[in-house]
Amino acid sequence: MGLEAGRDIAPAKGKLGVMLVGLGAVSTTFIAGVENVRRGTGLPIGSLSQMGTIRLGKRTERRSPKIKEFVPLADLQDLVFAAWDPIPDDAYTAAVKAGVLERHEHLEPIKDFLQGIKPLPAAFDQYYVKRLHGTNVKRGKTKRELAEQLREDIRSFRKAAGVSRVVIVWCASTEVFITPGPAHQSLATFEQAMEQNDPAIAPSMLYAYAALMESVPFANGAPNLTVDVPALQHLAEERKIPIGGKDFKTGQTMMKTVLAPAFKARMLGLAGWYSTNILGNRDGEVLDDPESFKTKEESKLGVLEYILQPDQYPELYGNVFHKVRINYYPPRGDNKEGWDNIDIFGWLGYPMQIKVDFLCRDSILAAPIVLDLALFFDLAQRARLSGIQE
Ligand SMILES: NC(=O)c1ccc[n+]([C@@H]2O[C@H](COP(=O)([O-])OP(=O)(O)OC[C@H]3O[C@@H](n4cnc5c(N)ncnc54)[C@H](O)[C@@H]3O)[C@@H](O)[C@H]2O)c1
Repeated sequence: MGLEAGRDIAPAKGKLGVMLVGLGAVSTTFIAGVENVRRGTGLPIGSLSQMGTIRLGKRTERRSPKIKEFVPLADLQDLVFAAWDPIPDDAYTAAVKAGVLERHEHLEPIKDFLQGIKPLPAAFDQYYVKRLHGTNVKRGKTKRELAEQLREDIRSFRKAAGVSRVVIVWCASTEVFITPGPAHQSLATFEQAMEQNDPAIAPSMLYAYAALMESVPFANGAPNLTVDVPALQHLAEERKIPIGGKDFKTGQTMMKTVLAPAFKARMLGLAGWYSTNILGNRDGEVLDDPESFKTKEESKLGVLEYILQPDQYPELYGNVFHKVRINYYPPRGDNKEGWDNIDIFGWLGYPMQIKVDFLCRDSILAAPIVLDLALFFDLAQRARLSGIQE
């Protein structure tokens, strides 16, 4: 849904609470980054909402204000953070352990601020993230009870932090692969499934349900099924709440989403795409579990198909061999390396190859997207846009 001209948008008055599910590498890099930007010790590079401009009229008119000056986004000074995590580390400890940001330059100077962010007990179940052992977890007889506790967390945070609006961004681990089933079809079956502790209801769905019931926009940064089910999509439409997201698509997937449209624009064929990664952070460890990897794999495989439309171009994209590998390799920590070998073909079918070696930093790429999601979802809510945001 686009923002049509003349739409009334409520002003970004008061503070915006950003509640993060998960207080790991991405979340702490995001929070510490915002605080560094607020104190003038860093630039929000990679953030469309902070760095991007929007062209008005023709290029020659040279009217290109910054997006944040053109649409009424919340100001960084007005953001207040909270998080849930089954691991009890505060944001400072978690950031040090994640090892993304340079400790002396970007963490020590804001240590007090980061130590003030302590994770709320999580709605967590090891069945969905096999490689984690959480101690900071909620107790309840049913999943519904856990969802009610999450709702209470949102209400308490609103009051205690004095925020006028809240958004939630899922920055927690990738859950095991789940396919949509009967439990996900309607609100009634969903609520019944929560009461019966149906395995089809993953923790991420409890957060999304709690968000929607509290009129809070929900953005998903992992490839989990979460809000991709009729029950929650209808609930979002009915309650007029924006939802969306399927993985941050920051590293290798970003390269795919950039290169594939280039091949398509040139009508070049694609025979195969082999992607492999090494990474050594906790995300890498979680994805080392085949069931969590399957969730990631399906989402990554889906990207090419969605862009290339093999049905429409069978000679070019009807027979693509696509393979994705993620290898947990501790020495690299968060500094991952992703290799792509792409077999393309041109005029009369002659083959060519492209090799990409991307030495990227996952959380450095993801943190600005968390910021943009939080700010744009809050804007969407104030503009009364609801359901899946494109
Ligand atoms: N790093 C990236 O660039 C990138 C890119 C795309 C997607 N992602 C996805 O973003 C997510 C976060 O990545 P990360 O590198 O920060 O991982 P991380 O392992 O450092 O942090 C994830 C945190 O989520 C917590 N968690 C797990 N289940 C939870 C639950 N039910 N409730 C609350 N907290 C829970 C974990 O304890 C952990 O602290 C992952 O799903 C990852 O696949 C990351």
